[in-house]
Amino acid sequence: QLVYVLNGPNLNLLGTREPEVYGAQTLADVQQLCRQACERHGLELVFRQSNHEGALVDSIHEAGREHAAGRLAGVVLNAGAYTHTSVALPDAIKGTGVALIELHISNVFAREAFRHHSWISPVARGLICGLGVQGYALAIDAIARW
Ligand code: DQA
Repeated sequence: QLVYVLNGPNLNLLGTREPEVYGAQTLADVQQLCRQACERHGLELVFRQSNHEGALVDSIHEAGREHAAGRLAGVVLNAGAYTHTSVALPDAIKGTGVALIELHISNVFAREAFRHHSWISPVARGLICGLGVQGYALAIDAIARW
């Protein structure tokens, strides 16, 4: 069974980007952490990052085709700033029917007001935020138990 972990804009900068907010670990470290979590559960990892909204939509469609073929365990999506702006991402999630966990490294509710609204939450199965990059492993643990 496949787990898609999709990362949106600016998450390629992890490690150097506002480390006081996002921590010191890089996206490569996050990928490693996800790989280990998947291995623990015998799941196969597809790990991606894109700064482009349409590329994230394409990846959700791809996950949707795996879902239709019975090969998808679940999706973890950190949509970054697109969380707060994108209608295309929730449309893709709803349109494909993939089971998805919305993830944020930081506690968005303790930050600026514009980060308090998410277009993803209404179509997500659950939400993990504010637990740092460990949240990715927790999301994969949750998917393994669905
Ligand atoms: C984020 C929170 C978003 O508000 C922000 O735009 C990001 C990262 C997080 O992981 O905490 O890029 O999704």
